[in-house]
Amino acid sequence: MFPGSEIYGGFAGTYDWGPLGTELRRNVVNEWTEVMQSHDNMAFLDSSIFTAAKVWEASGHISGFSDPMVVCNHCHTKFRADHLLDAIGVVADEKMTEKQINAIFDEHRTKLRCPVCGKKDFGKVVAKSLLATSTLGRFEDEDEEVYLRGETAQGIFINYKNVLASGMYSIPFGIAQVGKAFRNEISPRQFLFRKREFEQMEMQYFVSPKEAPEAYEEWRKERMAYYDRLGVKKEKLRWKQHENLVFYAKDAWDIQYEYPFGWNELEGVHYRGDYDLSQHQKFSGVDMTYYDEKTKERYIPNVVETSVGVDRTVLMLLADAYDEDEMNGEARVVLRFKPNIAPVKVAVFPLLKNKPELVKKAREVFTELKKEIRPMVFDDNGNIGKRYRRQDEIGTPYCVTIDFDTLENDTVTVRDRDTGKQERVKIGELATRLKKDILNQ
Ligand code: GAP
Repeated sequence: MFPGSEIYGGFAGTYDWGPLGTELRRNVVNEWTEVMQSHDNMAFLDSSIFTAAKVWEASGHISGFSDPMVVCNHCHTKFRADHLLDAIGVVADEKMTEKQINAIFDEHRTKLRCPVCGKKDFGKVVAKSLLATSTLGRFEDEDEEVYLRGETAQGIFINYKNVLASGMYSIPFGIAQVGKAFRNEISPRQFLFRKREFEQMEMQYFVSPKEAPEAYEEWRKERMAYYDRLGVKKEKLRWKQHENLVFYAKDAWDIQYEYPFGWNELEGVHYRGDYDLSQHQKFSGVDMTYYDEKTKERYIPNVVETSVGVDRTVLMLLADAYDEDEMNGEARVVLRFKPNIAPVKVAVFPLLKNKPELVKKAREVFTELKKEIRPMVFDDNGNIGKRYRRQDEIGTPYCVTIDFDTLENDTVTVRDRDTGKQERVKIGELATRLKKDILNQ
């Protein structure tokens, strides 16, 4: 990942995915998508980023989606009030109301020092809207202010009737979407953890009010179990219930991960009741009710939401997979990604760069294997030990080396990243063997 607009000094809260990061990100999205596809009542959606202001008025984001901001009266630097409190060990959270956080801030005011100028002179805590805006229009004087979506979920709510009208789904069913979301975070920080432009993988499950509590429990179980599929260490994950509910939630739990900077939210599983559909019905005038043929009842469906960021997942996977150990008497850094997560699946090397017959054979093996396994890399730079280290550092599970024995008996060595063990495998069996290992783990 590179800082956004890096050659111009960077642009806070944005990062650009590099070649390996793009693969990592894609693997994360694919795993999530596959899990959602495994449900037979799941629709997928790709809604717009630019959205009419009415959507955010109805959803409550214009009036209620904000961060608590406080300004130092001396040096005029702006801070997140909850972060300042956090730094002195006082628990406050971003979801508290302006009144609640002001009360806590006032109680501890005498202990709070500006991290920039050192003075103890802060103003009142005010709610700063998180919605990012832009303008659209034919002429400048006709431009209207529009919102970039603050969560992908609203795109799902405003299309719930369209999806139903397709005739392919009936309650209970889910709508899943992966897409960019934008938030004007006051203090984007902790690398990928808090960005201004990030990607969400959200699923809204539309269910009858009666069945909603059970569905909520089922989804909570499923979402925690999902992290096993990504190979995340169990002891680094835990549940945390929200004490202060966001305006749309009836109940909310976070799956937290123990990041290098402490336990923090990875995914939210929220019971949103009929809040969103009722609001859109009120503001748009469109009937959002559903007639349930099974129960002969008409109701506004309730919604169970699962919402996780691609960026936070990638940050977790990097932290979780990072390891330092010793192999053959040498210290090494290794990313122990599960093969389904690793950005590169297999690397192919000729033992020596200056032996044309080895390089030719290695190229042949690489080209053939690449028809079945991707992404792969070919590397003939430096000695073989250095090449192994390079692949260990990016988490490549297997390295295939073509040596002089290959020319004699058509076998290659396959080296396992975690154990360093090497095995001779026939070229004819290579693709099947590797695919089995990569897909079955
Ligand atoms: N639709 C519900 C919703 O948006 P949220 O708790 O505000 O709820 C859901 O966000 C998830 O989106 C979070 O658990 C996190 O993974 C991700 N996320 C939220 N804000 C983010 C940010 N500024 N940078 C990166 N990821 C973020």
